[in-house]
Amino acid sequence: MQYSRISDAKPGERIALRGWVYRQRASKDIAFIVLRDSTGIIQCTVKNDKPFFKEAENLPIESSVTLEGMVKKDPRAPTGLEVEVDRLGVIQRAERFPITKDQSVEFLLDVRHLAVRMQRLQHVFKIRHSVFGAIHDYFRSQGFWETQSPSFSPTAGESGGELFEVAYFDKKAYLTQTWQLYAEAMIPVLERIYTIAPSFRSNKSRTVRHLTEYWHAEAEWAWGDLDDLARMESELVSHICQTVAKERVAELEALGRDPKQLSRIKPPFPRITYTEALELIKKDGVEVPWGKDLRTEEERTIAKHFDKPVIVSHYPKKIMAFYKPSDPDDPRVALCNDVICHETGEEIIGGSLRDPSIGEMKRALEEKGEKVDKYEWYFDTRRYGSVPHCGFGMGVERVVRWLAGLDNIRDAIPFPRTTDRFAP
Ligand code: 4AD
Ligand code: MG
Repeated sequence: MQYSRISDAKPGERIALRGWVYRQRASKDIAFIVLRDSTGIIQCTVKNDKPFFKEAENLPIESSVTLEGMVKKDPRAPTGLEVEVDRLGVIQRAERFPITKDQSVEFLLDVRHLAVRMQRLQHVFKIRHSVFGAIHDYFRSQGFWETQSPSFSPTAGESGGELFEVAYFDKKAYLTQTWQLYAEAMIPVLERIYTIAPSFRSNKSRTVRHLTEYWHAEAEWAWGDLDDLARMESELVSHICQTVAKERVAELEALGRDPKQLSRIKPPFPRITYTEALELIKKDGVEVPWGKDLRTEEERTIAKHFDKPVIVSHYPKKIMAFYKPSDPDDPRVALCNDVICHETGEEIIGGSLRDPSIGEMKRALEEKGEKVDKYEWYFDTRRYGSVPHCGFGMGVERVVRWLAGLDNIRDAIPFPRTTDRFAP
């Protein structure tokens, strides 16, 4: 017998299925098994005249089984379809499954390797799949090459405070925070490049938007300016929204999200400067002294004014990473931007032009207490055929959290790594 998938079930046809017992209950006449596979769930019934009724009656949830039978319509079944089982094979009779209703978030994280089987998470992981596909499609359609950077790094890429130190034999290395510095060395080779890779941040803050290991979609390209940067960022975000709205209708709806709301997200995105953003939120009673970085609360207040992601540019140079150049028209600010999601109020993308001046970068690194000589190899990218270039990085889980409407970024990835846990 050829096995099919639950999503292939059609009323009036025989079907053979393989999967896991998602729910089970029995009366003296009939046993109900809701079967799950990667395509969904379906109700299956076993009548008490079947020789395997006893087995079905006592089948623990999450047992793995094969079964066969006729599919028929039943409006009382969860999906409107039901399989009348006439053959049942138990592959593995599960032990008592530890996850039952109403368990604490902490417990569910302790048994995350089992909790990943929850329907809600299955929907999220399928949305995540479509997001990854959309990122690859977008960059490849724009003539970008995919290329990788190492995860072990001798230096900080972003900020020294958030580095994970690892023993590299008898030396110290750090887990990478960004692929960017190595990407810049690849500009004279491939000109337009991107990656999707893990980045590591030892954030001490426990928040709904920080992971210590997250997937970072980054792009870098030659000859770009600030308009180009904003255009690529908005096109990428829009392409992800269009793709997910098209490919993941059932999953979005099951999570209470309206696909139409996502397909509305089209470029161009509104653009304001940091200074304008401060004025905007001042009207809401939120005062930030010029020069301070925006915190969650302030980004949320900005986001409320928009019905699409908003691009905030020209942040104060002093609080920016060393490679972000100052604006020749106003050296107090940097040629950079952040994309803030209008719904979650979180930064989903950070990008900038890259400083052509070795002297400026050295000064910025020294101010931050970094060892400048470790960056000599990077300065070589400016010594031999330096060209104007720019790039950005997008936190994939922040985007998944937004699209799937999740309360916490943890659920945007199967096995989250956070401040308090790295197991299971
Ligand atoms: O703004 P960030 O720090 O920028 C960079 O790393 C640049 N080097 C990127 C580049 O230009 N190539 O990080 C980029 C994005 C943020 O906007 C955010 O979405 C995400 O990465 N991010 C995190 N996501 C989850 N957990 C964390 N701890 C994150 N830190 C940053
Ligand atoms: Mg940032």
